[in-house]
Amino acid sequence: MTSDNAETAADGGTSGRAGSLPFDTSVAHQARMYDYVLGGKDNYAADRAAVEAGLKAWPDMAFAMRANRAFLGRVVRYLAGEAGIRQFLDIGTGIPTAGNTHQVAQAIAPESLVVYADYDPVVLAHARALLTSHEAGATEYIDADLRDTDTILDQAAQLLDFTKPVAVTLLAIVHVIPDSDDPHAIVAKVMDAVPPGSYLAISHAGTDLFDKETNDTFRGVINQMMRQRYTPRSREQVARFFAGMDLVEPGLVPVEDWRPEPGTADAGTSALYGGVGRKP
Ligand SMILES: C[S@@+](CC[C@H](N)C(=O)[O-])C[C@H]1O[C@@H](n2cnc3c(N)ncnc32)[C@H](O)[C@@H]1O
Repeated sequence: MTSDNAETAADGGTSGRAGSLPFDTSVAHQARMYDYVLGGKDNYAADRAAVEAGLKAWPDMAFAMRANRAFLGRVVRYLAGEAGIRQFLDIGTGIPTAGNTHQVAQAIAPESLVVYADYDPVVLAHARALLTSHEAGATEYIDADLRDTDTILDQAAQLLDFTKPVAVTLLAIVHVIPDSDDPHAIVAKVMDAVPPGSYLAISHAGTDLFDKETNDTFRGVINQMMRQRYTPRSREQVARFFAGMDLVEPGLVPVEDWRPEPGTADAGTSALYGGVGRKP
């Protein structure tokens, strides 16, 4: 699905209208900024400038992005391993890099089925790298906006069996869905579509993990330069995404503190909450 109806709001964020982002290198895109910090090549001057300005306001931003990616790896290993999940719906995939969800899951369970969804044209251009499934499993890519929830669920159902547990991963995406788009309703709609025994993993910027001045300055800078509208939320607001679910230990914590692996001592503060919930 491709449409060209996202609009830039006055503050540089996207308006409430869902759709694929236009390809526009003059303004920073979240996916390309993340790619730049993770050492990728799919970024432009505007993306790099936004990262540099963000780092001035909040020097731990690069640590946060790397800690988020490491969280993705630990979460998917937990889900495919301990939790025994074989179906994944990864929304807000990002530009492919090392350790994509299907690679992590299929290294543990080759038969894993993984559906990716993102609305950024650069991610779409690289989608082939996400379709390199182990022959025992399968992967699929959906070009759609999380706010077009029905589109994602309908297309995902072509590969995933929604009568069996699914792990939904929403990592570093929900904090660019503004309140006006009701992200809690969107996440609830996705989780309503999957059966008991399914999981939800979220990472999300937390206002109360920053000092107020850094939070305000960083938010102002990023929202002036980035296409998306960065919207960090309080711990209570992030916890509400898991309403009715059982949080897996250690609960909702900074991503670097979620089941850290030995030898990965903290080198910063991510200010990102991370958690995994199980639908009872
Ligand atoms: C920071 S990246 C995170 C990538 C990956 N989930 C990870 O944690 O490593 C966020 C991704 O979400 C995508 N994204 C942001 N808003 C979205 C929306 N409304 N619908 C679909 N994708 C979106 C961006 O294009 C970007 O690729």
